[in-house]
Amino acid sequence: MAGRPKVFVTRKIPEPGLDMLKAACEVYVNPEDRVLTKQEIMDGVKDKDALLCLLTDTIDGEVMDAGPSLKVIANYAVGYNNIDIAAATARRIPVSNTPGVLTETTADLTWALLMAVARRIVEGDKFVRAGKFKGWGPLMLLGTDVYGKTLGIIGLGRIGEAVARRARGFGMRVIYTNSKPRKKPDDQTLGVEYRPLDRLLQEADFISIHAPLTEDTYHLVGEKELKMMKKSAYLINTSRGPVVDEKALVRALQEGEIAGAGLDVFENEPEIAPGLAELDNVVIIPHLGSASLETRTKMATMAAANILAGLRGEVLPNLVNREILT
Ligand code: DGY
Repeated sequence: MAGRPKVFVTRKIPEPGLDMLKAACEVYVNPEDRVLTKQEIMDGVKDKDALLCLLTDTIDGEVMDAGPSLKVIANYAVGYNNIDIAAATARRIPVSNTPGVLTETTADLTWALLMAVARRIVEGDKFVRAGKFKGWGPLMLLGTDVYGKTLGIIGLGRIGEAVARRARGFGMRVIYTNSKPRKKPDDQTLGVEYRPLDRLLQEADFISIHAPLTEDTYHLVGEKELKMMKKSAYLINTSRGPVVDEKALVRALQEGEIAGAGLDVFENEPEIAPGLAELDNVVIIPHLGSASLETRTKMATMAAANILAGLRGEVLPNLVNREILT
């Protein structure tokens, strides 16, 4: 590498991460606060040694080939379904993500959505702002209790566990399902019980999804699964939109097959399925799972540390495609 290595950053991230990169590299940051097109990313990586990208950027083999000098790709997210990992491995490009640092923040947000939809917080807020609050009413905006209910977690990884721990404070029974056996099955300590997916769908009052998006989890919750849920149950999704068949969800909500939903993620972000925004029994927010200043800053420094390690030829601290080491 002649001179300082060059890093392409597809969108501005918190300064501490950029400062770490600037101390050792020439850093090129997309000057506009918007998602770049594929062509713009390809132009950006043309002469760069490293790429720092976001979950909104599709990084496939073609993009990688546009950057023949790329030595590392750091994704500014824990989920990395936006990157063709097999293509990166085939080109010997190490890829990193940002695990751990956003676990608690995403778990907090999951609970914010769950509480908001169960207790009709957004509807209540709109009601007051619209000048409709004429005094306390015994039947006004009745929601449902959270305390003492059953929480079903689909995908008990780091974030699922953090959500489960919070459920204790609400005196909830927690059941979970996982595609793979858990690495450290400390179910008793965590106070959780395993259920196959169909049983979980039938038993839970609140279902929260924390599974990564893979070929196996695409539309994991669709028409059939929604019909298995209790009519009084709520679905919360803070993982990835395509894990839920969004059209089927809208239909289930319209037809009263389930009571409500809290969604942070959507199947075709930033688009949302027709009919969703018209429903009062959903709370929809724009992918804010990790959106606290502290966490986004930690994600920035973590992504930067991975880039710097990759440029030094070291194993990335948060290497995703570990098969590259063999
Ligand atoms: C992630 O990191 O995968 C989250 O979805 C970001 O909010």
